[in-house]
Amino acid sequence: MKRSSTLAIRGASVAIVGLLGSIYLGAQAPAAKPQMAEEVFKNVQVLKGIPVDEFMGTMGIFSAALGISCENCHSLSDKSWADYALDTTQKKKTARRMVVLMQGINKQYFGGRQVVTCFSCHRGGDHPKTTPDLGAIYGAPPEEELDDAVEAAKGQPSVDEILNKYMNAIGGAQKVGAITSIVAKGTSSGYGPESGQRSFDLYVKAPNMRTQIIHTDNGDSTSVTDGKMAWIAAPLRPIAVMEYSGGELEGAKVDAALAFPARIRQTLANLHTGSPQIVNDMRVQVIQGTAGTAPNQIMVTLYFDPETGLLLRMRRYAAGAVGRTPTQYDYSDYRDVNGVKLPFKWTEMWLDGRESVELSSVQTNVAIDAARFNKPAPSVAPKK
Ligand code: HEC
Ligand code: HEC
Repeated sequence: MKRSSTLAIRGASVAIVGLLGSIYLGAQAPAAKPQMAEEVFKNVQVLKGIPVDEFMGTMGIFSAALGISCENCHSLSDKSWADYALDTTQKKKTARRMVVLMQGINKQYFGGRQVVTCFSCHRGGDHPKTTPDLGAIYGAPPEEELDDAVEAAKGQPSVDEILNKYMNAIGGAQKVGAITSIVAKGTSSGYGPESGQRSFDLYVKAPNMRTQIIHTDNGDSTSVTDGKMAWIAAPLRPIAVMEYSGGELEGAKVDAALAFPARIRQTLANLHTGSPQIVNDMRVQVIQGTAGTAPNQIMVTLYFDPETGLLLRMRRYAAGAVGRTPTQYDYSDYRDVNGVKLPFKWTEMWLDGRESVELSSVQTNVAIDAARFNKPAPSVAPKK
């Protein structure tokens, strides 16, 4: 199931890359408030009143929840982003009714809590199953991912024990706490048509500023947070420079802060240990906490290797109109940089993309020009 939905979304990015048509004009961001979907797009009927980044995240959830790609609901003949406003397919019209149905169920039966989502019924298929599966009852249990909220579990090591072990494993609290900036270079390979290696630059400054640039064949993809706001300027997108809001903004700040392992306690509140989980065929220790404040509060789960003490995975969830959007980082290849072990490889996964980063050089505590964390300019297509 997991595989089919990722494949579907790979199809989606193929379609997007094929769209070389017009790009929405009039999408210049006003300073204070994030732009709402209905201000940017032409035919928004049910997903009104949400910021445009959350609207695009919703399209990722639709695709993943149903195991289909953008062009199943939009149309393969769409020549430009403007064509996405057309109601050419029955599926798109049905999806609108489904948003209303889902919101109605949550409102009427669950006091408005978002407990039923597209995924609750669809589970990666366009037609939800109606009958329990005998094979599933008697066969091997399917390997399911941990759900978003992790309950506190008894009889597990405390959060302090797990975090202290991690600090000691990577160089000790003092050395780790002394890192205030990281500058790194390497390569990153994406998914599907983006799977070639492209050069990658990273700049991180404490407490929570971060800029990463992936130099793709279609132009630079630049993600920035200055600790208060966050943006992505990427090629072939309906919005040239998209501002993040809500949970995705909190998530960008968490990504930046957790580049400094000593900042976990300052960054995450409500930390508690959950039951062990399986990662890479190994039982690992899990802690979960929250960042930000309601309604933009996000859950952040950290997975540690019980033998080495190292951080293996970070997964965060941002709330959205039709479900939570997960983002996951899997870290490996820890190497020594001035007495502190930092991961030289990681894979970042989200609902409509994946990047595998391999660093070749990492420097700590070097000065970074403050302008690195300014709002990025739109991506420029390279001359061919
Ligand atoms: C399950 C069907 C479905 C899938 C899959 C889907 N969409 Fe949509 N899309 C919709 C619906 C429904 C709307 C209109 C929402 C509304 O009326 O509030 C929409 C609207 C849009 C719009 C706004 C167009 C405008 O100007 O009004 C864009 C852009 C868009 N989708 C992009 C995408 C992309 C990119 C993907 C793939 C990642 C995608 N969609 C996948 C159903 C879908
Ligand atoms: C309460 C369960 C439930 C929820 C929640 C739900 N759906 Fe559905 N959906 C169904 C069922 C059942 C069908 C099949 C109806 C049929 O076969 O006639 C369906 C059909 C569809 C179809 C038509 C598929 C096709 O190929 O014709 C689309 C598109 C769709 N849902 C999108 C969504 C989206 C998007 C969401 C979240 C906003 C969602 N659904 C939430 C139960 C649900």
